[in-house]
Amino acid sequence: EIRFFFPVQRTLALIKPDAMQDHREEILEEIRGGGFSVSRLKEEVLSREAAEELYRDHRDQPFFGPLVDFMCGGPCLVLVLTKENAVEEWRAMMGPADPTDARETAPGTLRARFSSDILHNSVHGSSSEQHATDQIHLLFGDVSSDTELTGDVDENPSGKA
Ligand code: TYD
Repeated sequence: EIRFFFPVQRTLALIKPDAMQDHREEILEEIRGGGFSVSRLKEEVLSREAAEELYRDHRDQPFFGPLVDFMCGGPCLVLVLTKENAVEEWRAMMGPADPTDARETAPGTLRARFSSDILHNSVHGSSSEQHATDQIHLLFGDVSSDTELTGDVDENPSGKA
């Protein structure tokens, strides 16, 4: 058997306000079942400034205002996920932004299963390694002393939450 190894990465994941009540535990089970380590975890109502920064690339879009309102309208679960190829793997688990599209093309994904529309689409994941670094810094500050990238994975991340 030939195995290809991808570098271990961190990515920022959010369970968005629309999924917190009914789907939070199922999503956490999927995350663990998918082999991700939860390196950081906190529940938080995002500040308007943080939501605007998170979605800065979309600031000129007509949906930007509603998106920011939605994202800071209730608590999110904010996570740092660690795994080989984490950025791409978490995006694959989420599925496409529009759940109508997701239900057609990727029916097993989180958005296909749990989302009601493109705005209320349950989960976020950084779209590149650079975005992941920036977004982790935005929501957790300096995580450079976290040990998971050296292979010394913390089995009890709630201690840091
Ligand atoms: P996008 O970066 O396209 O998707 P993803 O979340 O998969 O990275 O869009 C960011 C968020 O903006 C998306 O999760 C929900 C919101 N959005 C809308 O509300 N309407 C839209 O038409 C689009 C494209 C995005």
